[in-house]
Amino acid sequence: MRNIAVIGAGQMGTGIAQTVAANGMTVLLSDVDLAHAEAGKANVEKAMVKLMGRGKIEAAEAEALLARITPVADYAPMSEADLIIEAATEREAVKNAIFEAAGKVLSAGAIMASNTSSIPITRMANFSPDPARFIGLHFFNPVPVMGLIEVIPGLATSPATTDRVTAFARGLGKEVVLSQDEPGFVVNRILLPMINEAVFVLGQSTAGIEDIDKGCRLGLNHPMGPLQLADFVGLDTCLDIIKVLYKTTRDSKYRPAPLLVKYVEAGWLGRKTGRGFYDYTGEFPVPTR
Ligand code: CAA
Ligand code: NAD
Repeated sequence: MRNIAVIGAGQMGTGIAQTVAANGMTVLLSDVDLAHAEAGKANVEKAMVKLMGRGKIEAAEAEALLARITPVADYAPMSEADLIIEAATEREAVKNAIFEAAGKVLSAGAIMASNTSSIPITRMANFSPDPARFIGLHFFNPVPVMGLIEVIPGLATSPATTDRVTAFARGLGKEVVLSQDEPGFVVNRILLPMINEAVFVLGQSTAGIEDIDKGCRLGLNHPMGPLQLADFVGLDTCLDIIKVLYKTTRDSKYRPAPLLVKYVEAGWLGRKTGRGFYDYTGEFPVPTR
């Protein structure tokens, strides 16, 4: 695969674009409009500046990487893409509308993939032009750093699609875990109940934000505590994922923690809005409770 399109230029879409471009492929990057797509590319530029500052990348390499990412206003140029990766907001209706619209330009041999964290692939495949060429391709945040991609074939996904996408993922230097199409797949089925439980622990005042995170960092050797990680992922995304687990399984163990709902209702979505379980607006993050 040489030409990749990414729809959704938020933290995941830009991380995917950066990683794909770092591996020599071209990327068309879109969002709700051109300004959002350009803002996504500007975030990749910021990452390049950081990496150059740390001596991790030469200026010429960074420039070449950035030249391979083209923000676009609509789907028309994606008729050239070998693979279209949807990485928009974790809402099924939003994603289905994208599959229908971008599906109109998907070329005959191309594949459409979703970076969904939890939504069933088989169900969304119906909104794409060819469910045999539709698949889940789940990256982890931050994409340039994390070593895993989950590949999730839906019921109708062809073995050829799974093979091509697996080869693409490995070509990015990532390890692949193949998951059946079950809500939350493998990793989020395990991670999200932990994050949700951490919010219950906070809501019941068993411990404060910093102690909950410290407990998991030092007691479990996790690089980030669960509340810090929730802020990193985005509290809206965490809530959307746990809601999918709850709705699709109807198992009460996945009921969203009321305090998580409250933070999302307040618009405190984590790092991306400057405030979640921590406030990021000062020099150092400080807990918000
Ligand atoms: N591009 C390339 N490299 C980057 C980068 C970027 N945009 N951002 C950071 N890096 C590199 C840095 O250069 C650095 O490299 P070296 O170690 O070689 O110097 C390395 O990544 C670590 O970066 P930092 O020093 O800035 O940060 P850190 O050491 O504090 O680590 C972290 C940050 C990698 C995020 C770490 O805290 C961590 O692993 N946290 C947990 C992340 C996690 O669990 N992610 C999964 C979330 S769940 C998910 O993604 C699925 C879902 O559907 C919700
Ligand atoms: P984000 O909020 O950072 O970005 C979402 C982007 O989608 C925004 O730029 C938004 O403008 C755009 N968008 C919304 N509607 C759109 C539309 N109709 N067309 C095009 N773009 C549209 O969210 P994110 O964290 O990048 O998550 C994106 C997807 O990746 C979600 O499905 C999420 O579950 C999944 N994911 C997230 C993480 C994570 O840690 N945040 C990890 C793996 C997968």
